[in-house]
Amino acid sequence: MNHSVRRGPSRPSLLPGRIVLLSHRPFETRALGRRLGRHLEGNEIIALSGPLGSGKTCLAQGLGRGLGIAQPINSPSFVLMKRYRGRRQLTHWDWYRLNAMADLESSGFGDPQIESGVIIIEWAEKFLDCLEQPFLHIEIALGGGNTRRMVLAVRGRSVRFRRLLREIEAWWKARQKNGKTDTNPGH
Ligand SMILES: Nc1ncnc2c1ncn2[C@@H]1O[C@H](COP(=O)(O)OP(=O)(O)OP(=O)(O)O)[C@@H](O)[C@H]1O
Ligand SMILES: [Mg+2]
Repeated sequence: MNHSVRRGPSRPSLLPGRIVLLSHRPFETRALGRRLGRHLEGNEIIALSGPLGSGKTCLAQGLGRGLGIAQPINSPSFVLMKRYRGRRQLTHWDWYRLNAMADLESSGFGDPQIESGVIIIEWAEKFLDCLEQPFLHIEIALGGGNTRRMVLAVRGRSVRFRRLLREIEAWWKARQKNGKTDTNPGH
């Protein structure tokens, strides 16, 4: 018997590089953020894309809770960036008002003094190519009503992010099976 070919569940090629989740309420999006936040170690970039009001800040709020941040997380639109202390530092960027590369460069983004810890970026699609890989890209699309279609994708090579996606997908499925949807906001 040939024992050299092992197809264990953690082989990188078998781990998902992309998952799609449907959220039907703000609390579901927050719960996703929280779950992600609980798994973060403090050196990750989470890039959020999606139109106005799609739920990027909502997801960031959950992520902050998952990182143990007690302070409320609000949109940093007018200041470009806010920093929070929890189990790990969180730097929350909003690139909505950034249009030129020169603005990004003068914003301090990429400065290691600022950037230690978890980085979450709203409107990341504006400068996605400037982000150091690997990072997790979450694209949110508006569905009808409160529905949000969220595509979570690993950009670059990262077994750790792929494992994270597998965990998130399994958790999300179990959550839906247990009825933690419309009426039961238990996270
Ligand atoms: N399933 C859902 N997930 C997230 N937010 C939802 C959902 N359904 C409805 N909403 C509503 O959509 C809005 C999302 O607002 P939020 O500030 O998070 O969006 P945003 O993507 O950060 O917008 P902006 O581009 O202006 O920063 C909130 O009013 C929230 O209540
Ligand atoms: Mg926002």
